[in-house]
Amino acid sequence: MNCNWISISLGCAALGLVLPVSAQAQSDVPQVSIKEVMESVITPTTNILWGADDPQSDEEWQILEDAAIAVVASGAVINLGGSGEQDNTWVKEPAWRAFTEVMTNAGIDALKAIRGKDIDALLEAGNVLYPPCEGCHLQFNPGVINQ
Ligand code: HEC
Repeated sequence: MNCNWISISLGCAALGLVLPVSAQAQSDVPQVSIKEVMESVITPTTNILWGADDPQSDEEWQILEDAAIAVVASGAVINLGGSGEQDNTWVKEPAWRAFTEVMTNAGIDALKAIRGKDIDALLEAGNVLYPPCEGCHLQFNPGVINQ
């Protein structure tokens, strides 16, 4: 269809209205799998948080802050489903949301601790961050070992 500005017809105008709406609906579900988010976002960033060891420079704190932000953001993302076979089934379970909430809140506490340059509070948040990983894996994917 040729929709230049001279030949704009009702059809072209309607197309313009319909396309963005359907594109929007599709983008509500992440076009990556929950497993990919686990491996590419959650695992490396939580490792950075758990590995925090007496950070001193602004640069070290910044790396920690970026990691905590990624954990908080990924908590919202893994509640939206994904492209994995079971992703959209898992996220409908209340238990899924409960584990995600604990993980996200620990990420928020870590972020606050980092912004306050409080290493003890960060280590505490790190301790709260681990159980939801294990709990969720046990319930939803017992094949996921030792995470
Ligand atoms: C709300 C549930 C949930 C939470 C919370 C969660 N995970 Fe996962 N995770 C899963 C599921 C389900 C899979 C398996 C996905 C698949 O195989 O499609 C998985 C897979 C993984 C994998 C890939 C393992 C593999 O080889 O298949 C890693 C690594 C991982 N998670 C790390 C973590 C870490 C670290 C945390 C905590 C900071 C965490 N996950 C929190 C549900 C969760």
